[in-house]
Amino acid sequence: MSFPQVRPRRLRTTPAMRRMVAEHRLHPANLILPAFVREDVDEPVPIGSMPGVVQHSVDSLRKAAVEAADAGVSGIMLFGVPEEAKKDAVGSPGTDPDGILQRGLRAVREEVGDALVVMSDLCLDEVTDHGHCGVLDEAGRVDNDATLERYAEMAVAQAEAGAHVLGPSGMMDGQVGHARRALDAAGHQDVALMAYTAKYASAFYGPFREAVNSSLKGDRKTYQQDPPNAREALRELELDVAEGADLVMVKPGLPYLDILRAVADASPVPVAAYQISGEYAMVEAAAERGWIDRERAIDETLTAFVRAGAGLVLTYWATEHARRLRAAAG
Ligand code: PBG
Repeated sequence: MSFPQVRPRRLRTTPAMRRMVAEHRLHPANLILPAFVREDVDEPVPIGSMPGVVQHSVDSLRKAAVEAADAGVSGIMLFGVPEEAKKDAVGSPGTDPDGILQRGLRAVREEVGDALVVMSDLCLDEVTDHGHCGVLDEAGRVDNDATLERYAEMAVAQAEAGAHVLGPSGMMDGQVGHARRALDAAGHQDVALMAYTAKYASAFYGPFREAVNSSLKGDRKTYQQDPPNAREALRELELDVAEGADLVMVKPGLPYLDILRAVADASPVPVAAYQISGEYAMVEAAAERGWIDRERAIDETLTAFVRAGAGLVLTYWATEHARRLRAAAG
């Protein structure tokens, strides 16, 4: 008998063979596009550390939403970038019906209706002058429970502006349950919550801070999770589900695939992964230097999330990649 008896390479011989036995496939419907909308600009403003991503004007945001929907992307997640002078200690633009995020939500809903799931970031860091995800107490610490009150008001403002899904991303204890109660009390029972269940204090958020003109000095280590810890991700999952999370998310993506797998195995609700700004920037920067094949790297990273158990993937490449998937499907 010849040796080796078992030859796994047989199933890798041709593209058709590999396609037939592929265990995981991305579909445009898996993808959600995060997008930034900036006040006080008529034209989109490029983000230096995220080549190809912009701070949208309200008009260019409308176009980007239509393009995403046409490409088959499922959702869009909005982040607001207010005028610098409007930021304050409590994040007033976050609850102003005319705040830029609320204006962006209304514009997108007006443009695409229900063709996209319209989501918004429920957090204070984009709207506070100190850049923290919450309000501060007299000692300068982020005050958990006072922050919950602000999130509750923001949740209602975002729901009233037309968001289908809110993403509480500040990592305050109780943020999902508190937002849920506020939404229900205001008659927004159908607005869903995508909990940032496992969100780590990561170096890879760097480019995002430029994307939202963040005022933060210091770090978020007293509220975001510590990278060495896995167990607390499951604790956070339990709490978020008990508080009423409709969807849960793991963030960042690639450095936390183990967490994604653990959460996916334990979660009774759909699981999302967020491929964040620094992950995007690394691939773009290496590709620009000719060090890696850009499109293959994009496909490989996005497929990795699905393989690790994510049903949804937030990625700045959503529209581009959805188009490629459609073209490949013929
Ligand atoms: C907080 C928030 C952040 C990101 C999404 N929501 C920044 C942070 O926690 O520092 C980062 C997203 C990215 O890096 O792409 N509102």
